[in-house]
Amino acid sequence: MDVNTAAKKPVMLSGIKPSGELTLGSYVGAIRNWAERADDYDCYYFMADLHAITVRQKPADLRRRTIEQLAQYIACGLDPEKNTLFIQSHVHEHAELGWVLNCYAMFGELSRMTQFKDKSAKNAENINGGLFTYPSLMAADILLYQPDYVPVGEDQKQHVELTRDIANRFNGVYGETFKIPQSFVPKIGARVMSLVDPTRKMSKSEDEDPGRIILMDKPEDIMRRFKRAVTDSEAEVRYDPEKKPGISNLMTIYAAATGRSFAEIEAEFAGHGYGDFKTKVGEAVVELLRPIREKTEEILKDKAYLESVYTDGARRAQYIARKTLDKVYRKVGFVRH
Ligand code: TYM
Repeated sequence: MDVNTAAKKPVMLSGIKPSGELTLGSYVGAIRNWAERADDYDCYYFMADLHAITVRQKPADLRRRTIEQLAQYIACGLDPEKNTLFIQSHVHEHAELGWVLNCYAMFGELSRMTQFKDKSAKNAENINGGLFTYPSLMAADILLYQPDYVPVGEDQKQHVELTRDIANRFNGVYGETFKIPQSFVPKIGARVMSLVDPTRKMSKSEDEDPGRIILMDKPEDIMRRFKRAVTDSEAEVRYDPEKKPGISNLMTIYAAATGRSFAEIEAEFAGHGYGDFKTKVGEAVVELLRPIREKTEEILKDKAYLESVYTDGARRAQYIARKTLDKVYRKVGFVRH
């Protein structure tokens, strides 16, 4: 792709941490909404490996998951010819701009980030500086590419808001430098919950969430997990996230998988028991994920292809990232050479 021509389209960018296996939540909350837009937008999607190490990772697992995640992006419909797919650590401008933006992110605002509060409660033995300053690195990831839209699930909206605040602050001091991006959150599936605890977000880590569905789950595992999904003591398929979080989550998943509305789903299952409903949701998810799993397995066999995709992706990404970083370095007063 010619980056000069592509740059004229509106820009879209997003990333996912390879800190665990991609889940049904990662797919419906994020990736699925990226895949359809390649013709109308200039799109950048990356594996956020720098972000992953804010929580301890086994090096071999992190390496494997990063490559698997790239294969999954492609299997989910992100054509590397039309989308720039890359590994965050290959474009060192992310870390560099991350440092600069750290100096424009306030202690108070970083302290208020919900994800920081959650993660520090869960990792009390490892509340490291990276976990705390993570949002300024995320702001750098975004602002380097001057995107119009950042498609994310509900939980990342707060970080995109902070990115806007940091960008406005920087622009206020140095003049127009960064475009102010908007988050783009899907109407259905922005927050897929755990099947065992529907008051908590479905998470990539097995330890944190035994009720997760991962993209590589086999059909029998998916069916088993749906059959065991926590519901309630009524017997009515009705959307009410407050009183019926389990059923409402299953309805959301079913809506995301089939395109049906909540009213249609309520009508379809009126008078049926939960057992029947869970089976139908499980079957819909099996069919939703089957092509992704099969295609991922296929793509993973070709390591040379994957290497060529991330090498080319890093080159294209860096071309844009370099321009923004140069501008920032000049504005803050660094001597250029
Ligand atoms: P991460 O890796 O936790 O999640 C990746 C994307 O998936 C969405 N998501 C969900 N959506 C619905 N239901 C769920 N259960 C669910 N779980 C995850 C997330 O909202 C997210 O869109 N900090 C980011 C990664 C990142 C990034 C960026 C994103 C780093 N730099 C720049 C956008 C732009 C994160 O931890 O997402």
